[in-house]
Amino acid sequence: MALPNTQHTGILISFEGSEGSGKTTQITRLGGRLAKGGYEIVTTREPGGTKIGEQVREILLHNSGGDGMFAETELLLFAAARAQIVRETIAPALLRGAVVLSDRYLDSSTVYQGIARNLGKGPVNEINRFAVGAVMPDVTVVIDVPTKVSIERISKRKGARPDRMERENIGFYEKVRDGYLVLAKGLPERFVVVDGTQSEDAIEAEIWSALQARLFNGEQAGRQSGQGGAAE
Ligand code: TYD
Repeated sequence: MALPNTQHTGILISFEGSEGSGKTTQITRLGGRLAKGGYEIVTTREPGGTKIGEQVREILLHNSGGDGMFAETELLLFAAARAQIVRETIAPALLRGAVVLSDRYLDSSTVYQGIARNLGKGPVNEINRFAVGAVMPDVTVVIDVPTKVSIERISKRKGARPDRMERENIGFYEKVRDGYLVLAKGLPERFVVVDGTQSEDAIEAEIWSALQARLFNGEQAGRQSGQGGAAE
């Protein structure tokens, strides 16, 4: 299926970070703020977010059969869920002019599979590109928390047994954290890194001020005409 080029009028903002970084809370807050300003908000999550993607998510994270999964298989399954959601949900929303808030996107594969699983930049970039085409985030917000904090937050989550990725060791999560910071440093025009140990209000304010400066031209939170979706 053809994917939109950079001419679409929507905006794609992805949220990245380790588990327990508070992405989901901040997506809800930002979505509420923008919706009040008249924007159509579409929120998506990866892996999952579509019927097919949720089935892939089960294999990746919750199915006991996932235990013997090779890193290469893992990369391709994450990419498969992404290829589906970008065509089914994200691209049509961007063409309508919506603001899409994505809980994880291609940078998760760059960091988790490329760096932490050591599959390397080359293959991961190629597969990411195949999955998303030119549908790149306008801005990517990384909520950064020290690995210790992230692990403490996972262990405090009530009920559910940690998923397959959450059962990884601390060394893996150190690589994830550092991976995001290195990636962000190399692409300052796309990335915003926010300190996730602050209060939820402070994180929200910092994200909002960065987005206003980059995307919303200093407005309070109101839709303007000609809002560009300038992808890289
Ligand atoms: P999820 O339950 O969505 O948790 P989180 O709140 O941390 O987003 O779990 C998604 C897990 O999958 C998380 O450990 C990160 C991992 N992941 C990858 O390894 N590669 C990817 O491309 C994506 C999208 C996620």
